[in-house]
Amino acid sequence: MFSQANMLYPKLFADLENARWNMATDIDWDKFDGSLLTDEQALTIKMNAITEWSALPATEMFLRDNRDDTDFSAFMSVWFYEEQKHSLVMIEYLRRFKPEFVPTEAELAAVRFEFDEAPALETLMLHFCGEMRLTQWYKQAAGWHTEPVIKQIYHILSKDEARHGGAYLKYMKKAIANFGDKAKLAFAKIGILMASSARAGKPMHPTNLHVNKEQYPMDTVQSRLPNPEWLEHWLNFQIDFNIDKEKLVIRTIFNNLSNLFNETISNVSDLSKLRKQFMSNLAIGTV
Ligand SMILES: [Fe+2]
Ligand SMILES: [Fe+2]
Repeated sequence: MFSQANMLYPKLFADLENARWNMATDIDWDKFDGSLLTDEQALTIKMNAITEWSALPATEMFLRDNRDDTDFSAFMSVWFYEEQKHSLVMIEYLRRFKPEFVPTEAELAAVRFEFDEAPALETLMLHFCGEMRLTQWYKQAAGWHTEPVIKQIYHILSKDEARHGGAYLKYMKKAIANFGDKAKLAFAKIGILMASSARAGKPMHPTNLHVNKEQYPMDTVQSRLPNPEWLEHWLNFQIDFNIDKEKLVIRTIFNNLSNLFNETISNVSDLSKLRKQFMSNLAIGTV
């Protein structure tokens, strides 16, 4: 008899429903202090609003690449809703207080483009890492901003991103239960990419990765923003997301992989060794 016992969606739906905030009543809109908001800050809110809008093409990709996973696809309804809400709350902030910075519909539409098909397990890990990283970026942004309402918004969004990371992590656990070393190998591969690229100084977030060969180099979400360079400027010169903060993100990713794999992972070389191990396990398994 088939059962739904392994489906994560019903519980995740309930958990995220419990944590849900209301845009009209949970944001202290009346605490706004215009003397503490600069045009420079408002522009970064606009860019973040457009970047959040890219959950739309990401959802289209997820649904396409997970046609055989009805549980994960159902969860996408919640994730998509919350990410679009992130975009909307920032747009609402600008609409109320800096309307000249509200993104146009064309600017929002520009980040919707086709992503190439990609291995679903790698994408899952990539987005888990993206949520972990965004949690810290938004925390840092909340500290950089001076205006109280936008500080509150970034704090709230940061917590949502952490919950998204937690949800993806549950799907990663489920994938290991279902696919064993194949899933572990996919997660290790992306984990290495995340850690190595962090050392190279490139901001590693799904919105900053090339996702459509034919449209290269205009095939990252960031390349389609009104100012494609804003992300690095925001990280390096505005919110000051320095190397120590980046290390914290990588450590969080390694800790989570350690728990998932039940192995100790302290650095990239630990992870590389495990990757080789998973590869050889799979090769033996197919003989
Ligand atoms: Fe978000
Ligand atoms: Fe998120």
